Amino acid sequence: MSPGPAADRHPAESLYPSGGRAAPSGAPQHTPFSEQLKQATWSAHEDAEGHGFTRALLDGSLPREGYAAMVAQHYFAYAALEEVGRALADDPVAGRVVLPGLFRVPALERDLAVLYGADWRGRIAPSPPTRTYAARIEQMAGDPAGYVAHHYTRYLGDLSGGQFIRTAAGRAYGLDEQGGTAFYDFAHLGSLPRFKAGYRARLDALELDAAERERVVRETRLAYQLNVEVLADLGHTYARGTAA
Ligand code: HEM
Repeated sequence: MSPGPAADRHPAESLYPSGGRAAPSGAPQHTPFSEQLKQATWSAHEDAEGHGFTRALLDGSLPREGYAAMVAQHYFAYAALEEVGRALADDPVAGRVVLPGLFRVPALERDLAVLYGADWRGRIAPSPPTRTYAARIEQMAGDPAGYVAHHYTRYLGDLSGGQFIRTAAGRAYGLDEQGGTAFYDFAHLGSLPRFKAGYRARLDALELDAAERERVVRETRLAYQLNVEVLADLGHTYARGTAA
């Protein structure tokens, strides 16, 4: 599919009025960085969005344990993402996107208590692909532009496709933001389209030269790939026969 979600692609797309804006191919140099980044990584996005595990989650056929296992894997990735984010909070590049209002670990802890019970800490462990993903995020403590890539891939995704997952999980498992889908609840941020526009403006304002922009693009593709590997591992256990 061409960069940017087509207007007819998803009924909930109207929630995201900016979803259809995509830079023309061969975007000129003055194209805002947020546009360049989206365009250059949208095919990787489609691999994540179209993965069999994601499809099963969205169509309600994934068992509740599969959803819980995904939340558990998120916990380990976000623990790394937010630990490195705190360490880079004053960095002139990474610090521009590290916004405490996005931090997800407390919400994940609430969700895990609902999904696994009070003893959830003893019942979850990172999968091998999650270990690889978290290790890569930890390496970004020394690569602030690379950190931006990981930050963008997860948080802008949670604010976008994540909202469809929230609806699907609510419907399939009877969960809500009190516990189970708190991870996807960003009500405290106000209008999500407005917040995402502000986030994109932050990306556009980053002082990155062409080589550094390319560095962010490459790391974003890797971030998508690492996410797909986590999904593939989950799909192997919980969505057999639907793997992409
Ligand atoms: C559940 C399946 C998914 C659906 C239905 C979906 C849908 C969408 C839509 C409609 C947008 C455009 C929103 C906008 O421009 O305002 C979007 C953006 C985005 N999604 Fe997804 N997505 C899914 C899964 C994922 C996954 C698994 C990831 C990452 C691991 C991800 C990362 C992103 C990112 C980073 C953006 C922002 C792109 C940009 O505007 O620069 N999405 N998604």
